[in-house]
Amino acid sequence: MTLIFIPREASGEPRVAATPETVKKLVQNGFEVHIEPGAGAGSYITDADYEASGAKAQNSLSNADVIAKLHPPTEQEVSSMKEGALVLSFLWPYGNRSLVESLASRKVTSYAMDLIPRITRAQKMDALSSQSNIAGYKAVVMAADHSPKLFPLLMTAAGTIRPAKVVILGAGVAGLQAIATARRLGAIVEVSDIRPAVKEQVQSLGAKFIEVETEENLETEGGYAKEVSADFLKKQQAVVREHIVGADVVITTALVPGKQAPRLISDDMVRDMKEGAVIVDLAAEQGGNCSLTEMDKVVTKEGVTIIGKCNIAATLPVHASDMYAKNILNAFSDIGSEGAINLDFEDEVVLGAVVTHGGEIRNEKVLEAYKGGKA
Ligand code: NAI
Repeated sequence: MTLIFIPREASGEPRVAATPETVKKLVQNGFEVHIEPGAGAGSYITDADYEASGAKAQNSLSNADVIAKLHPPTEQEVSSMKEGALVLSFLWPYGNRSLVESLASRKVTSYAMDLIPRITRAQKMDALSSQSNIAGYKAVVMAADHSPKLFPLLMTAAGTIRPAKVVILGAGVAGLQAIATARRLGAIVEVSDIRPAVKEQVQSLGAKFIEVETEENLETEGGYAKEVSADFLKKQQAVVREHIVGADVVITTALVPGKQAPRLISDDMVRDMKEGAVIVDLAAEQGGNCSLTEMDKVVTKEGVTIIGKCNIAATLPVHASDMYAKNILNAFSDIGSEGAINLDFEDEVVLGAVVTHGGEIRNEKVLEAYKGGKA
C-alpha cells in the first residue's frame, strides 16, 4: 500500500502538513498514513487524534512513498528518502539549488507548493495564498497591539475618538486581508498597489485607492507585479509619502517574485511620520519595504515602531496548519487516488509545480534560472 509520511517540522515551526481531517480523507482514499510522533503538537493535535483518524504515529521517512511537509526537506531528510519517493512541500527552488540537485540525484520527485500556478482550478491548493491570508490578518492585529491608539471611531461621554488611519502598501492576498481586517476594526484605510486590477478590489473592501499615474504596464501575464523603474518608484514614493506621514499604522506587503522587495518607505519618510505610529513590514524576509526594518525584530526608530517579524502565519498554527493541510490534500488528490500516484506531465499544475523527477530537474522555469545563473 502506498505510504504517506508526515514528518515533524524543524524546531520552532509549529505548523504541520496534515490534520486528523485530511488524514481521514487520505486513508479513505486507500493510502496508509504515518505521522512522526509529536508532529502536530505545535498545532495542538496529539498523536492520539491522528491515530483516531486512521494514521499510525511512527517515523517512516526512509520507507515512505510520499512525504508531505511544510518547509523544504533538509539534506539529511533527502538522503534518508527512498529512490522514487514523492515529496510535497514549499521548496523555494530559486534559492535552494543544491537541495534541488540533491533531490534530483536521489531520484526523488519534488512537488513545490510555492510553484503551483495561480490559476482558478488550483486555488484550493494555493498554499502561498492560504498562508499570506493569515499573515495579512495577523499584521493588523500586531499593529493594533503596538499602537498607542484605538482603531474605531468611538463616540463616548468622555469625547469622540477619531478612527485610526491605516495605509496599506501592496494589495495582493496579504494586503487584501489586511484591508478587510483593519476595516473590521473600524480604521480608515488607504491603499497603494501597482497592478491595475487591484483598484476595484480595494474599493469593494471600503478602502481608498491611492493613484500613481503611469504609462508603464506593471503587471506580468501571470498576474504578478513587475519590478518598477527607478523613475516610477520615485513618483510612487512622493505620492505615498503624503499618506504615510499622517498614518497611525502602515502595513507593507509589496513583493515582486524573485526580486528584492521594492523600497517604498525611506529613512526620511519614517522621520516625518507621527510619533507612536507603527509599521508592519511583511516583506522583511525579502529585504523589506521600509529601509529601517530589521528582519525578525521589533524596533523603534524616529518614534515609530517597526515590526519586521518573519514567518507570521506560524503564529496562528491551528488555522495555518488546517489550511496548509487542505492545500496539501487537494494538491495530492490531483496526482494520487485509490492508493496510487499518477503524475500527468500534460497537466499545467503538475508541469508548474514538479521540480525534480526521475533523476532530473524537469521544471523548465527552474532550469532556465539555473542556466542563466539567476539562482
Ligand atoms: P505578492 O505577494 O507577489 O505581492 C504582493 C503585492 O505587492 C501585489 O499585489 C503586488 O502587485 C504588490 N506590489 C509589488 N510592487 C509594488 C509596488 N512598488 N508598490 C505597491 N505594490 C506593489 O502577491 P500575491 O499576494 O502572491 O498575489 C499575486 C497575484 O496572484 C495577484 O494578482 C493575485 O490576485 C493573484 N492570485 C491569483 C490566484 C488565483 O487566481 N488562483 C490566487 C492568489 C493570488
